Amino acid sequence: MAYNFITAEEAAAMIKNNDTLGLSGFTAPGTPKAITEAVAAKAVKEHEEGREFKVNIFTGASTNPHVDGILAKANAINMRAPYQNTPDLRLRINAHDTHYFDRHLSEMAQEVRYGFYGPINYAIIEAAEIDEEGNVLLGTGLGNGPTYAALADKIFIELNAALPKSLYGMHDVVMLQDPPYRREIPIFRANDRIGKPVLKIDPSKVIGIVRTNALDGVKPFTAPDEISKQIGSNVVRFLLGEYKRGGIPKEFLPLQSGVGNVANAVLYDLGESKEIPQFMMYTEVIQDAVLELMKKGKCTFASTCSMTFSDETESELFSNLDFFHDKILLRPAEISNNPEVIRRIGVIAMNTALEADIFGGINSTHVLGTRMMNGIGGSGDFTRNAYISIFSCPSVTKGGLISNIVPMVSHADHSEHSVDVLITDQGIADLRGKDPLQRAETIIENCAHPDYRPLLRDYLKLGKGGQTPHALQAALAFHTEFANSGDMRNVDFAKFA
Ligand code: COA
Repeated sequence: MAYNFITAEEAAAMIKNNDTLGLSGFTAPGTPKAITEAVAAKAVKEHEEGREFKVNIFTGASTNPHVDGILAKANAINMRAPYQNTPDLRLRINAHDTHYFDRHLSEMAQEVRYGFYGPINYAIIEAAEIDEEGNVLLGTGLGNGPTYAALADKIFIELNAALPKSLYGMHDVVMLQDPPYRREIPIFRANDRIGKPVLKIDPSKVIGIVRTNALDGVKPFTAPDEISKQIGSNVVRFLLGEYKRGGIPKEFLPLQSGVGNVANAVLYDLGESKEIPQFMMYTEVIQDAVLELMKKGKCTFASTCSMTFSDETESELFSNLDFFHDKILLRPAEISNNPEVIRRIGVIAMNTALEADIFGGINSTHVLGTRMMNGIGGSGDFTRNAYISIFSCPSVTKGGLISNIVPMVSHADHSEHSVDVLITDQGIADLRGKDPLQRAETIIENCAHPDYRPLLRDYLKLGKGGQTPHALQAALAFHTEFANSGDMRNVDFAKFA
């Protein structure tokens, strides 16, 4: 069928107050770049003229400045899920201008299909190509695009000329059946393919195609600082020790790694290690470091939801697609992060915490217990189901005013039942097979900053027994002390005795 080519403004003109938009993509890649900008401009105008105008935005994960950034500035987002990482949106969320519900990324698509969050009025799908039968060659990030396109009343396509058609074959598009009809997911190795290279949509639902021409605009990572390097080398030391003692099979196991500088530092260090064999990744995001590992032959394959490469690395990828084509497979979030698959193939999960407590509880999301930072993302999908689940963070933050190892986390994202190993710049706490008291001693002595070790030992002495010997009257004393004096080191546990 012949499609209607329109402008982003014409698309935005059709979108009404309180409509729900389901966007393709996962982080910046695959995320639309034009229509949401026009929606933000429309919101500004509507607000100036005294009318309410906000939309609900469902995505795969975080987005790009063309979505969360500009829409948040315009105060144009009513409901938002499942993940974000944008300063302007963070402000809106913490002020309750935007109603954010933070979901495990593997669950979002199915919950939208279950009807938990209402209808999708428009799907906006970034594409490299679309044919007349509605076969869409997607971009460099999938997210929940297949579900949003299937459910939406109407679809806009953003046809991005910067995406090469030779991406064909790098996607594994599938949508799971819902209970009670769901079957097993036949992925037995990270590189098993179960879906189609294109997304099939109903062409009659496509009400407009908007042309774009832009890379994803991901900034290159800054060189890791000393603390990140130290954490990275501790993670690699742990993995190597585990490998040598036979805790990881000789073929090694697929790795998942979070985003950010620590994750990048870990991957670079793994690449340098002569003793770690070649490995695959089963993860939700791959960053620049993975491409380097592929060039070295260290990482042989990556199953991912998104290629979150800097523009420079993305250009390199596009110029050498012949080399990378069979080494990367892009999957929807409900597959890249699927608990069944993660458990079956034995993924080793490496995620980052804001703070950890001495018993192994993890806060990944809430700064000092109340302010949303980003969201839980895929960390729960992987952590709960991993072969080994590793969390890392610096031992202190803000020049030592904040200890990231605390008596009790001020917000609980991952419980001690899911966390196997905690790693900071100070060292490694292997929590497996340890009871809560043993875990606390290991974490304090190996992971806490030396300035905070005596305080944490004092806290532990305050507890009056029980399997997990908290002293509830002082459990959040680090946090309240920071609120009072601005320095957690000033806490005096004697006054709680
Ligand atoms: N208390 C208060 N503030 C803290 C803190 C703590 N315990 N720990 C860190 N912070 C502050 C930092 O100082 C920094 O503040 P700034 O923005 O003013 O500089 C900010 O929080 C971010 O800390 P940083 O160490 O730079 O974080 P990061 O980039 O390494 O990200 C998470 C850490 C936890 C926020 C991030 O990994 C995340 O969002 N995780 C959840 C999602 C996830 O795990 N996805 C994984 C699958 S990809």
